[in-house]
Amino acid sequence: MSRITIPTSPFDGQRPGTSGLRKKVTVFQQPRYLENFVQALFDVLPDAAGLTLVVGGDGRFHNRVAIQTILRMAAAKGYARVLVGQGGILSTPAVSAVIRRHGASGGIVLSASHNPGGPEGDFGIKYNVANGGPAPERVTEAIFERTKVVREIRTMDTADISLDTLGSQHIGSTEVLVIDPVSDYAEVMRGLFDFDAIRKLFAGGFTLRYDAMCAVGGPYAKALLEGELGAPAGTVVNGTPLEDFGGLHPDPNPVNAEDLIAHLFAADAPDMGAASDGDADRNMIVGRKFVVSPSDSLAVIAAHATLVPGYRAGIAGVARSMPTSTAVDRVAKALGIPCFETPTGWKFFGNLMDAGKVTLCGEESYGTGSSHVREKDGLWAVLFWLNLIAASGKSAEELVRELWAQYGRCVYSRHDYEGIPTEQADALMRDLRASLPTLGGTSIAGLPVDFADDFAYTDPVDGSVSQKQGVRIVLTDGSRVVFRLSGTGTEGATLRIYLERHEPDATRQDIPAQEALQPLIALAEMVARIRHFTGMNQPTVTT
Ligand code: G6P
Ligand code: ZN
Repeated sequence: MSRITIPTSPFDGQRPGTSGLRKKVTVFQQPRYLENFVQALFDVLPDAAGLTLVVGGDGRFHNRVAIQTILRMAAAKGYARVLVGQGGILSTPAVSAVIRRHGASGGIVLSASHNPGGPEGDFGIKYNVANGGPAPERVTEAIFERTKVVREIRTMDTADISLDTLGSQHIGSTEVLVIDPVSDYAEVMRGLFDFDAIRKLFAGGFTLRYDAMCAVGGPYAKALLEGELGAPAGTVVNGTPLEDFGGLHPDPNPVNAEDLIAHLFAADAPDMGAASDGDADRNMIVGRKFVVSPSDSLAVIAAHATLVPGYRAGIAGVARSMPTSTAVDRVAKALGIPCFETPTGWKFFGNLMDAGKVTLCGEESYGTGSSHVREKDGLWAVLFWLNLIAASGKSAEELVRELWAQYGRCVYSRHDYEGIPTEQADALMRDLRASLPTLGGTSIAGLPVDFADDFAYTDPVDGSVSQKQGVRIVLTDGSRVVFRLSGTGTEGATLRIYLERHEPDATRQDIPAQEALQPLIALAEMVARIRHFTGMNQPTVTT
């Protein structure tokens, strides 16, 4: 077993996006492609002597191959210990929990999150730092700079280790410990939620359908919901992680999880439905015949947090990404706690949580979480809702309707235009940005514009500035249209248009969102000329 050095030359385009480096599996299968990126990462990290690294992935195609490569390189880097999930499996929130509980210096997550998997699908790699959260931009940029000059890969000349056997093995002097993927995470959940109350809820006949979408959430949901909380077998469906997610698109929204929605709208619908994504950090909550929007979910959780043992002492503050609806802002105001507005991407919440400024965070993109880890957490959100339902005796729909009654409804929708040739999408955004200075104080499509800008964020903790985080056009009544390009796609560009309108009038809160938002949809077309730039007449996905 010896250290070896393999000559290499840089690949273009290894810049991490919103959430790590994501590319087609076929790109990652090129010889030295993954190795170059991992070497660049290890080159920018300090000496690893005495340190622990965590490695795991969502089990998608190429996971095992990539893990073996990383383990060898981690040994060559000189880590004292590498913790790896059995079978190469660790959900993203579980990686975060394991890093924190074991005092690791960081972790590598292998996932392309909600993007489809399989040989033709996507793969991804992301580095998390010692707080358990995604590396901040200064680290990911340093890695990217390093990928441009990497010339040598340092690894070990060894056979694969067994990923399926729990316990300790060695690569050179590095101990590789294969751990149970669920146990650390489960322990964190036991410390937060009233498991007895949830057990009673299920014992009383409450029914849940949890769709794990053939992704990594399955083992966690089965162990906790069915194994520990007494939900009947079969509560978790699509619960076995498959390398290609069974051909499903493991993104829990009403479009991709249509089977779950159909069950929740059927005559014999269960009391609640839930789904998680490829790496189990996203969640969708569905009541009986009632879809809960992610922005409303965050607001409900914030409003009732003290019903849950882990949050009984109250929450320090909340944060949401800029395009997420302002529902939680209204709750925060009533609670007298701060609400932070950050750019899209969970990494922006890390500093706020580390500094104790916020306890709960959420995004419109079906992500919700708290300072128990530094990732969003799908199953955590589901347990939160179960705990709230158990403690309040109210259904999911009742909890949301109560929110609307008190604060008004933030009617919300996101329109995605996928697969736009990059140059066309860039041209649209360039044009839109150029028009911004002329929009404030005018009327567009009959709607009075308060201001129009390109969202920039100054991190209140470290002062770092992130520019160009999304164009927003805000009307005098607070309604908004936000435009940004996705940072997680792998093919062409995806334009996201976020629409929000506040409806205080209870008699108008059930008007279908697309209808209620029609004036804003017209405004979006008028200012951005979507048809002109993309040739598309309608979004490919509307949620
Ligand atoms: C990932 C990140 C989220 C972010 C989302 C946005 O899921 O973890 O924090 O909200 O990507 O994706 P987009 O495709 O809109 O850049
Ligand atoms: Zn995810």
